[in-house]
Amino acid sequence: MKFIVANWKMNLGVRESMALARSVLRSVRGQEETPEIIICPAFTALAEVHKVIARSKIKLGAQDSGPKKSGAFTGEISPVMLRDVGCSYAIIGHSERRALGETNEIIAEKLQSALENGLTPILCVGESIEIRRSGTAKEFVENQLKIAFENIQASRKHKIFISYEPVWAIGSGDNAKIEDVLEMHALIENFILSQGISREQLTILYGGSVSAENVHNYLREKTVDGVLVGGASLRLREFKKILEAAKEVIIAQA
Ligand code: PGA
Repeated sequence: MKFIVANWKMNLGVRESMALARSVLRSVRGQEETPEIIICPAFTALAEVHKVIARSKIKLGAQDSGPKKSGAFTGEISPVMLRDVGCSYAIIGHSERRALGETNEIIAEKLQSALENGLTPILCVGESIEIRRSGTAKEFVENQLKIAFENIQASRKHKIFISYEPVWAIGSGDNAKIEDVLEMHALIENFILSQGISREQLTILYGGSVSAENVHNYLREKTVDGVLVGGASLRLREFKKILEAAKEVIIAQA
């Protein structure tokens, strides 16, 4: 199975989000062999987008999920609330949130809370360009994973999706070379095996300037379970081509 996660980031109002979701739905309706599509709109559009996709195979995801279930945490959104509006997934630890000050420890707490409250977390890990140039990218990503997984119950670990997203590739048009992605995916896989999870149970994605032109390079690799698409997921024509490419790979690998 291949997963296509559409991260709309801080874009689109409620009506625009509904319209885009409707168009995506129309482009895959009635088709078999489609990838698993997860749409992640802004919080304000979640409930309405959920109504649009409710009776389809398309799933709803949030772009973040707070560490607590409820209480005096002004401005936070809990995983329980996200479930309430129809989310089954939540992106956690995106580099754009880490850049705002989210630490590995906060991300670990969010991850745990998401899992405990029935959301499938999509954990983002990845190094900056400085770290890559210094030759310590692997250690850096491994450390992000270690802290994230530290307090997770063994029986829940396999539910976590992991997306390798080098910071320098996000929103830059400078998508990572497939060799680099495979190298980091191998590291993630080894880490996961060390946690007692088998490869079949695990979902590993790539994110960072994925486009209609380059998506096939990633998806055709058996070990790449899918992609997280930012900018290109907002451009309907391009996003449809990405879905089409995924479909071709699914058929070819069936
Ligand atoms: P991008 O974003 O596709 O615009 O680079 C990727 C992401 O949100 O991780």
